[in-house]
Order: sequence, then C-alpha cells, then structure tokens
Amino acid sequence: MKGIILAGGSGTRLRPLTGTLSKQLLPVYDKPMIYYPLSVLMLAGVRDILIISDDRHTEMFHSLLGDGSRIGIHIAYGEQEKPNGIAEALLIGADFIGDDQVALTLGDNMFHGPGFSSLLQESVKNLDGCALFGYPVKDPQRYGVGEVDDSGRLLSIEEKPETPRSNLAVTGLYLYDNDVVDIAENIVPSARGELEITDVNKVYVEQKRARLTQLGRGFAWLDMGTHDALLQAGQYVQLLEQRQGEWIACIEEIALHMGFISAEECRRLGHEMASSAYGSYLLDVAARGMKVAAR
Ligand code: G1P
Repeated sequence: MKGIILAGGSGTRLRPLTGTLSKQLLPVYDKPMIYYPLSVLMLAGVRDILIISDDRHTEMFHSLLGDGSRIGIHIAYGEQEKPNGIAEALLIGADFIGDDQVALTLGDNMFHGPGFSSLLQESVKNLDGCALFGYPVKDPQRYGVGEVDDSGRLLSIEEKPETPRSNLAVTGLYLYDNDVVDIAENIVPSARGELEITDVNKVYVEQKRARLTQLGRGFAWLDMGTHDALLQAGQYVQLLEQRQGEWIACIEEIALHMGFISAEECRRLGHEMASSAYGSYLLDVAARGMKVAAR
C-alpha cells in the first residue's frame, strides 16, 4: 500500500502563524505537525509515502524529512498549486499510486489511542473498497458525516450537512483500493469549487464497498487547524508524554518498532539530537532495543 499526506492549503485559519511557514510544519509541542500523520501511515505498515504541499514549502518538508531513508522509508514530494480539494491529492498522486492501494491522510489530523496500530493493520489487511474511520463529535455539521449499519457498512455519507444523520464525523484518514484513481478522475467540483473527498466516498457507498470503523471513547482524534486546536493538541501530547514517559508520534521509534531501522540506526539518530529531550528519549529507546536484540 502507498501513502499520501496532503499538507497543502493556505492555513488561513492559523494566520499569522502561517504567514511564512506551512501549517503542517508548525510545532505541536515537541515535533512538527507532519510527524503525526506520518506516524499513522508508518504504523499502518506503509513505507512509500508522497507528501503533497504547495510549491513554497516543498523544499522545507524536504529538508526536514529528506527521502525518508534515515527512518527506513521512502518519501517523494508532490505539489498542489491551489487548495482544490482533498480528492485532488489522488489525481496528483495517480502515477505514484500506480496499481497499488493507497492510504490518504490529512496533514493536520492527529490520531492517538489504544490499539490503533493493530486496528490500522487489520483495516489494511481486510480492505475491500474503502475503509474510513468515524469519530463521535458534538458538532457533526462541521465535517463529513457517516451513517453505518450494525456491521460497520457505510449507508450514507454527507459533507457538512445541516441536519446530520448521526454524530459520526468522518476523519481525515482514508484507505482505498486502486479503483480510487478512476473514481477521483470522474468526480466534478462541488459548489465550493473543490474536488470533495466525500464525493469519492459516495461512489464506494453506492457500490456498497465502504466501511466505517468507529474510534470510540478514550480515543483522541484532533484536527490542528485553528489556534485553539493547535494549542490543545500540543497540551494533549505534553500531558501524555510527561505522565507516561512514552512519546507520541516519534517517527524514529516507530521505525524501530516496525522493523524499518535497527536499534543501532535509532541510536545514531538519537545521538544527533542528544541535547533535546526528544533525542535523549530516542537514545533510551535505542538502548532498550539493543538489549532486546542481544537476548
Ligand atoms: C475535510 C473533509 C471532511 C472531513 C474533515 C476531517 O473537511 O471534507 O469530510 O470530515 O476534512 O478533518 P475540511 O477540513 O476540508 O473542512
């Protein structure tokens, strides 16, 4: 499976923070925002990733993450000239996707909760059509909203409905089979002039090949697109990391955990950042990894 992170958009709701910097490069406590969606793809087992941003910021993403080889993955870069909608990412990424399945995620969504990586890996393994993730919210009007039957099959999906049929927001993580490229090529722009991802998902709903897995109580799905949401996400990460001593979205640790890099490689990466708390955490993780390897 290939992965795409859509990190475009002009971040107008975050001005002036986004005057020069891309939203997805802003700090969320101790790491850049894009680490969070990148972690999700890595935890799903995806190692071939396309980051789509606008042309002003591609170079910055590249200097942060390079070609991904340091963490045992491959990262390519693509550009979205204007924010023409989430589904455009599938057109920009069509060649990159090739004949493969694809996981598309939004660069400003954070997912965190118990059992999430197994849930992701199961969803990838059982993918037939499209797999979406729903999260109960008190203001579903702001999102894509899904209605499911008892088996988790999606019965309907609507974008920002005035009268939502459920309280389940469709989160910004979408797993698709290869048909999605053809489907995205055939949708038309919505009234707001965008290629809506909900219109792509509607085709799968009509084909009865769309599933929505509910992320329940105790799970955190945060979007980080406003000043308050950004601060809250940072505080959430700070609280859990300080309380538990386990880092969230530490891409080097995930690379080690997934077997993408060795403990020795992890140690080297930690060493480069040793003067930060993040770096010393990585050194600890690597030391534990080496003990396990030596057993
Ligand atoms: C987009 C999607 C919406 C989804 C949301 C998740 O909305 O169109 O269906 O629920 O992302 O973050 P937007 O953030 O573009 O308003």
